[in-house]
Amino acid sequence: MRKPILIANWKMNGSLHANQALLVRMLARLRPFRKAVDMAICPPFPYLFQVRDLLGYTGISLGAQNASAATSGAHTGEVSATMLQEMGCRYVLVGHSERRSLYHESNGVVGARFRQVRSAGMTPVLCVGETLEEREQGMAMAAIESQLQAVIDETGMAGLSDSVIAYEPVWAIGTGRTATPEQVSDTHRAIRQFLERHEAGLGESTRIVYGGSVKAGNAAELFQSSQVDGGLIGGASLQADEFSDIGTALANTVAEPDSECDTLD
Ligand code: 13P
Repeated sequence: MRKPILIANWKMNGSLHANQALLVRMLARLRPFRKAVDMAICPPFPYLFQVRDLLGYTGISLGAQNASAATSGAHTGEVSATMLQEMGCRYVLVGHSERRSLYHESNGVVGARFRQVRSAGMTPVLCVGETLEEREQGMAMAAIESQLQAVIDETGMAGLSDSVIAYEPVWAIGTGRTATPEQVSDTHRAIRQFLERHEAGLGESTRIVYGGSVKAGNAAELFQSSQVDGGLIGGASLQADEFSDIGTALANTVAEPDSECDTLD
């Protein structure tokens, strides 16, 4: 049984003041779901410390948006995986499409970053997804498979076990255009089949989440498929009520909210 996971990717947004206000409201509203759903917040690097303190013992994890492909040394502007681990990060996004397209991160670089995150003992959230052109040419799975293969080349199949895969079609990110539940379900199934071909059991055990214009209004139908283990949320994770309503939709796919949690901490 795969435990659902909901990840907030704040991208390059926030301020000390705004983060505090957002989290105080959001954490109170997410509290009932924290046993049923794994949750993580990925703020920009400078706010990791602040967000770590605010998350405290809520059971909600800290995550980062990227990690260097190098271990240490002369890499101005980069942040190493061991630094992120030291800061308390549990998850690190790797290969986000904005990194691939805006900052020209190749499949090979993404694979190296992934390996660093693994070596530092954190869980990589490997983002994969096709462009609109690739989808229209019937090449969506070929693009995704080459993104997965680059990681396998770097770490072997062992690297992928216990990682999280985020399917984020590039054409659905920040555009308001969401993939249909059928497209999401079919693609997740195809990713599982690819993993299963490489290692028996891996397709079944790997958590695959969807990202791309997920909102409170469409979350329930996107999460309905048993192929979908949760979400990687951009814009909607900057609004406390919107994000916690997405959390409610995800928690509803597994269990009733755990009201006893309200008395913990
Ligand atoms: P949006 O939810 O804003 O479309 O962003 C998705 C995403 O890129 C999450 O990593």
